[in-house]
Order: sequence, then C-alpha cells, then structure tokens
Amino acid sequence: MKRKNVAIIGSTGSIGINTLKVIDQFPEQFQVVALSAYNNCDLLIRQIKKYRPRYAAVSQQQYEKIKSRVDAKRCTVCLADQDLAMIATLPQVDVVILAMRGSAALAPFMAAVKAGKTVAPANKEALVVAGDLLIAEARRTGATIVPIDSEQSAIFQCLQGQNRGELKRVLLTASGGTLLRVSSSKFDRLTVEEILSHPRWKMGAKITVDSATLMNKGFEVIEAQKLFGLKANEIRVVVHPQAIIHSMVEFIDGSVLAQLASTDMRLPIQYALTYPQRNSVRLPALDLCAIQSLTFEEPDLKRFPLLALALEVAKKDGSLPAVLNAADEVAVEAFLNRKIKLTKIFDVVSKVVKKHRLVLKPNLQEVLEADQWAREETRKLI
Ligand SMILES: NC(=O)c1ccc[n+]([C@@H]2O[C@H](COP(=O)([O-])OP(=O)(O)OC[C@H]3O[C@@H](n4cnc5c(N)ncnc54)[C@H](OP(=O)(O)O)[C@@H]3O)[C@@H](O)[C@H]2O)c1
Repeated sequence: MKRKNVAIIGSTGSIGINTLKVIDQFPEQFQVVALSAYNNCDLLIRQIKKYRPRYAAVSQQQYEKIKSRVDAKRCTVCLADQDLAMIATLPQVDVVILAMRGSAALAPFMAAVKAGKTVAPANKEALVVAGDLLIAEARRTGATIVPIDSEQSAIFQCLQGQNRGELKRVLLTASGGTLLRVSSSKFDRLTVEEILSHPRWKMGAKITVDSATLMNKGFEVIEAQKLFGLKANEIRVVVHPQAIIHSMVEFIDGSVLAQLASTDMRLPIQYALTYPQRNSVRLPALDLCAIQSLTFEEPDLKRFPLLALALEVAKKDGSLPAVLNAADEVAVEAFLNRKIKLTKIFDVVSKVVKKHRLVLKPNLQEVLEADQWAREETRKLI
C-alpha cells in the first residue's frame, strides 16, 4: 500500500505533536513531507531530524536560526507567514493536517481546498471566519474535509452512511471547562494558570481559555453550522462533564446516534488520517463500566454570556462570525498577557460585535476586512 504523504501545519502545537504520535504508530502508512511551526525552533529542529520533511516553515524571526541548523539539500526552509499555501498544495501532499491556531489558517486551508486535497482541520477559526466559502470551494473541487475537532469528528462519524435529508438536529456536547462548578463572582479571582488547568483535555492556551468561557462551544456551533450545512437552531449545546460522548445526531424518527471515545485527541486525528478506513488503535479501550454514569445539563447562558453571544452571532451569520473570532482572539491574548480580567473578554467582544455593520453574504475580501476591523476595534477598547 502506498504511504500517505502528510503535511502538518502547526506541528509544534498540541494537535501537531499528537499527529506525529499517531504517525509514529503507523510508520508504514504515513510519510511526513512538510512541517510548519512558528516560534518553537528547538522542537521544530528535533522534528525535522526525526521525520526528515522535504519542507519546513517558521516565522520570519526564527528563519535564519532554522536555516543554519538544517541541511538545505534535504529540507527547504520557508516562511510561515507567506508559504503555507504553497506547502498545503505541494503535488506530493495527500493529506493536510491544519493544526495551527488562529484565522491565519484560512490561507493554507483555502489553497488546499482549491487544489482538491484532503484537509483535516483541527483549526476552527478558519471555518468560523469563512466556512461557507471553504465548503463551497470544496464542493467545486471535490476536496475532502475530515474534521479533527472532536465534536465535529463525532458528528462526521455519526453521519457516515446516513441520508442527510433525515437529519433533524445535532446535539453538541460540552465538557463545561474549568469554570463549570465555579460561581461567576469568583471568575476574576482565578489566575491565568488556574484557568489553563482544564479537567478533561490538554490543549493550547487560547482554546483552553475559550473552553472555560464556553466561547469555544460557541465557535463549535458555528463550525458545525458551516461543516454540515445546518441552521443555528438545528444545533443544541448539551453540557456533558465526563466528555465521553463527543457529540450526537438526532434523526427525524427520533433516533439519536452518539460517538463515544476516551478524551484523547489522537483518536479523531487517527480517524482523519486513515479515513475512509479505520486502523486498530494502540490506546487503552473505553471502559464504560469504570465510568459508570454519563450526565447531561443545559448550559448556563447567564454565567457564560460568551456562549449566548456566539449563539446570536450564529443566527445572524454573514460577516459576524469573523468579527466574533477576531475580537475573541485579541481579547484572549490580552487576558493571557494579564492585561484584562477574564470577564472583560465578554465586555470587549460583545461591544465590538454590536458595533459591526453586518454583511450578509460576505466574499473573502469582506471577511478579511471584517476580521481586520474587529482586531483594531478590540485593541482600541482594551
Ligand atoms: N488542542 C486541542 O486539543 C484542540 C482540540 C480541538 C481543536 N483545536 C484547534 O486546533 C488548533 C490548534 O490548537 P492547539 O491547541 O494545538 O494550539 P497550540 O498548542 O497553541 O499550537 C498552535 C500551533 O500553531 C503554530 N502557530 C501559531 N501561530 C501561528 C501563525 N501565525 N502562523 C503559523 N503557525 C502558527 C504554533 O507554532 P509554535 O508553537 O512553533 O509557535 C503551533 O505549532 C486551534 O485552532 C484549536 O482551536 C485544538
């Protein structure tokens, strides 16, 4: 069997590292042809030595450092800010793993889709910002999108072999994040480190903060809307603290299908890499008797107003998701840099969303303008 050639965009992050762990398990099936990082030079160099990619990308600041330590005959070093679209469309690439954070992933995502590649996005920002445009382009070129984000992977898996016309709605599960049982009066007393200690998933800092505020769930509602062609009211968020059911789909006859697995991102990553096949897994099996109970709750929209805001944005759609994403990216960065308190993220983001003039069916240029406008507005407010 021919090995699949894989490009990993964001190889030094949480998803990127897990992708390489999956590839380590099946060296006879996958070959790494390109890696891309941003600032984590030391890890990228270790990855280049181990996986021998033909291309590696880094930020401008790290470019010379990487170049001086890599054999130019074996690996071409490029710039992450300008060459990711080229990497994602290399003729030899079969699967593009989009594991970088932020809406900058839109450029390689769109390029890969235009080239008809199989794209496995963990990145949700690009889908939130320009999901309609990405999906329309994928339909045109025949590109395959196999999501890695665990909830979207669950929905994708539950829909295999089903008649989409019979789908009634999606039940999107949320573990509830760090603040599930914390009174909102205490939110601003928690340190950044406390917010970053997620009870179920080990992830990058930005997504862990978004999980705590439930903004991440809001983004996933929009992501699911785009990926599966749903209306906002066809997606219901259900808090499920055990995070064993990764999401469910309900059909018109009342049947509900769920996808269950342990909380390990290597599972959806492996599914995306091997799709449409499944590989036997070399991880501990899910033990439901040990877990004993699976519970469900309504999300508390008063304590988590960013989720309420995201649900509103999902309904209005158009250019608003791009604004929501950009404002949140800037506000969370300010929180992580200890410039604003946690609850200020909502104050700032909601003001920017309210001020935005909605464009109903934005083209790529209008989406990028909305993103830029929202970043500037958020910075001014902070
Ligand atoms: N972690 C999870 O379990 C999880 C689950 C579902 C979805 N996601 C989504 O997957 C994406 C990645 O999440 P993560 O937790 O893996 O993030 P992360 O640990 O912060 O890693 C982000 C990766 O992107 C690179 N990067 C950062 N800024 C970049 C830029 N401007 N251009 C190119 N590359 C850049 C980083 O490089 P350096 O480290 O070298 O600077 C790193 O390789 C996010 O969109 C997140 O929402 C993550």
